[in-house]
Amino acid sequence: MGPVGLGCMGLSWAYHDAAVNEAEAEALIRTAIDAGVDHFDTSDAYGHGSNEMLLGRALAASGRRDRIVVATKVGLVGGEGATQYKYGRDGRPEHIRAACDASLQRLGLDTIDLYYLHRIDPEVPVEDTWSAMAGLVAAGKVRWLGISEAKVAELERIRRVHAVAAVQSELSLWTRDYLGDVVPWCEANGASFVAFSPLGRGFLTGTIQVGAQFSEADFRSTLPRFSAEAVAANQKIVDAVRAVAERLGRTPAQVALAWVLSRGEHVLAIPGTQREKYLRQNLAAADLVLSPQDLEELDAVPAPVGGRY
Ligand SMILES: NC(=O)c1ccc[n+]([C@@H]2O[C@H](COP(=O)([O-])OP(=O)(O)OC[C@H]3O[C@@H](n4cnc5c(N)ncnc54)[C@H](OP(=O)(O)O)[C@@H]3O)[C@@H](O)[C@H]2O)c1
Repeated sequence: MGPVGLGCMGLSWAYHDAAVNEAEAEALIRTAIDAGVDHFDTSDAYGHGSNEMLLGRALAASGRRDRIVVATKVGLVGGEGATQYKYGRDGRPEHIRAACDASLQRLGLDTIDLYYLHRIDPEVPVEDTWSAMAGLVAAGKVRWLGISEAKVAELERIRRVHAVAAVQSELSLWTRDYLGDVVPWCEANGASFVAFSPLGRGFLTGTIQVGAQFSEADFRSTLPRFSAEAVAANQKIVDAVRAVAERLGRTPAQVALAWVLSRGEHVLAIPGTQREKYLRQNLAAADLVLSPQDLEELDAVPAPVGGRY
């Protein structure tokens, strides 16, 4: 997989007031395929399945499914209507098996390349969930298994059941929680670390100013890090990113992505966007090598105000 994939979540759900135009979203995925993106990330939870259907349509129309890694997820349930951002967890083996079939159907595929457990269900031993997922590999429905937001102790438990091909967790200049343990664990165990929200849900791009308002439909309205006070306090982080970007003649988004990619050869980023301009900018970040001085400045940005969730 290339270092920069496309996170498809925001094409159906999450950061916008109105539903995204389906034809435009499909066109963006097609443009990404034409531009060489070989890794697309979705989930059965995004837009209640509609994001998988969108990706499936774009893949079918592209005729290039064979050279693309399709990643989707299982294990979050609910998230409908007015409670669209409130999810439960379901890691029961019977749910995993049924949900996989439903995802395959929505994607229009025979095989999912990378199937993640979206979150561990505290009511179900993770080995049981993982074993059901391993059964999907044995059945030829899935090629590789991944897990999102797992800790090292959990990774150690599941790797005894079946190999972990990828861990997908939040990693960016303002979210470094997994840098000290899970990122090195992945390297030592031959797994990719797939960084989600590598642009800090848009914040690190410098486009979210003091006083920004998020409508109720925008997921960020529910996140402490996007409260009015936090947005104001966290501008210090963006200022530091912008300073490096200006010096290099790049955009803050590119610097934020290059910092993520600098964390290891096995670290990949899946930024999301609805716009071709941003897509191309983000892909070009793969060529940006930050100097020791750039990295030192970026490593030193202050910790953010406000929790992730
Ligand atoms: N495993 C999990 O639990 C989990 C959780 C969250 C996300 N994810 C995955 O990670 C993917 C990416 O994360 P994310 O979408 O949350 O956040 P992100 O990639 O950090 O940020 C997306 C936001 O940044 C904006 N943006 C993108 N490129 C930009 C650029 N070059 N300049 C300025 N603004 C730019 C987008 O705006 P526009 O949309 O207006 O273009 C969008 O608002 C998701 O699509 C999803 O696949 C996984």
